[in-house]
Amino acid sequence: PTKLRLSEAVSGSKLGANVQVQGWVRSVRPQKKNLFLHVNDGSTLQPLQIVASSGLLTFGCAVEVTGTLKQSPHQKQLVELEADQILVVGECNPVDFPFKIKERHNLEYIRQFPHLRCRTNAFSSLLRIRSEATTAIHSYFRENGFVQIHTPIITSNDCEGAGELFQVEPQSPENDEDANFFSVPAFLTVSGQLHLEVMSGGFSRVYTFGPTFRAENSQSRRHLAEFYMVEAEVSFTQSIEDLTKVMEDMFRSATEDVLAHCAEDVALFHKHVTPGHRDTVDHMLKKRFPVITYTEAIDILNRSSQKFAFPTQWGCDLQTEHEKYLVKHCGNIPVFVTDYPYELKPFYARDNEDHPEHTAAAVDLLVPGVGELCGGSLREERLDLLRTRLEEAGLQDTYSWYLDLRRFGSVPHGGFGLGFERYLQCILGVDNIKDVIPFPRFSHSCLL
Ligand code: 4AD
Ligand code: MG
Repeated sequence: PTKLRLSEAVSGSKLGANVQVQGWVRSVRPQKKNLFLHVNDGSTLQPLQIVASSGLLTFGCAVEVTGTLKQSPHQKQLVELEADQILVVGECNPVDFPFKIKERHNLEYIRQFPHLRCRTNAFSSLLRIRSEATTAIHSYFRENGFVQIHTPIITSNDCEGAGELFQVEPQSPENDEDANFFSVPAFLTVSGQLHLEVMSGGFSRVYTFGPTFRAENSQSRRHLAEFYMVEAEVSFTQSIEDLTKVMEDMFRSATEDVLAHCAEDVALFHKHVTPGHRDTVDHMLKKRFPVITYTEAIDILNRSSQKFAFPTQWGCDLQTEHEKYLVKHCGNIPVFVTDYPYELKPFYARDNEDHPEHTAAAVDLLVPGVGELCGGSLREERLDLLRTRLEEAGLQDTYSWYLDLRRFGSVPHGGFGLGFERYLQCILGVDNIKDVIPFPRFSHSCLL
């Protein structure tokens, strides 16, 4: 027999062939003469129907089936496998198995079983979509002339300056020498931005896509301690539009790719897990994303009749409730907010000295259901302004190499970061960020 992945077996291209498939039993239907099984190996949403003479098989067990692929008499599927032999590779006690046959378990329930939830349709669809979205994002950057940079996980800088660092030290050092492994305090990265800025000075267009870490003691539905960030940095920028264009194009291109390449998985998800969300996604892609300034955003919020838990005034940071309101106000499509108060932004943000209010050339992309999806800015490329700001923060020595970048061929540049889990939440309509990552890490939880 020829060994086949399930995706190939269900496609109908191997009718009549003697084949062997392996997978996990997703359903068992004993009938008078025959036993009907659905088996899946995760390569496709479609299970393969197996027709066997009765045998002892339970929901959840792992099997290896040898037989002949035949055209199925049933409308639901193209092919079925007439089994000659079924080998139980791994048994499964259906009484103890947390997922019950024929039941649709919700995301919250299956989250309790991070080691088993890939056996559910909802979560395996989600992870195939996540995998496809990863590829789609890499494709976008490759097709648009960006060089991928592997920025470090361990770093000595705190790019965002928000004090949310995890420190890295050797476990139980035997002497002081070992304890001070890097000779400087070292941390898990909160952002690859500064390393990308280094590289944008040689490659013009660079990006990175990897894990980032924040010791955020937040139990929110959109924060994790470990999340994946897509970051891009572009040289020779003229205005913030050079960034919003990349953000919007990437969002559209990745989403269209996912909808096209994972159509079945997306359809299942939008039908059973987050009903109606497909309309929201189609609606989001219809129009260009509007751009408003922070000052306009504050005006909109001040004029709204909605009562916010956090009152708004010029200078305040936008909270999730404000972001969600602004998205609704703009027609439930993604919206860019630009030119935030200078004081709210980290040291690297470019000073808009020509504006009446003191703002920085920063931009966030806010999206339906989530709020902030991307944060970015033009970077301060002028040596004197940057040096002054670093001195005010007492950071001139820490960032002497960063100042060097402004000494040796400095160019206007800028970039942004997109939270990949929030992106998945947005296109899938998933309420809780813990449900879109295989192994969520957050305060008081580091299972497995
Ligand atoms: O807005 P942030 O903090 O921006 C930066 O880190 C910049 N240095 C990026 C850059 O310009 N290269 O983070 C970027 C995005 C946020 O908009 C959000 O979507 C996501 O990362 N994010 C988180 N996602 C999940 N859990 C968290 N704790 C997150 N913190 C930020
Ligand atoms: Mg931000």
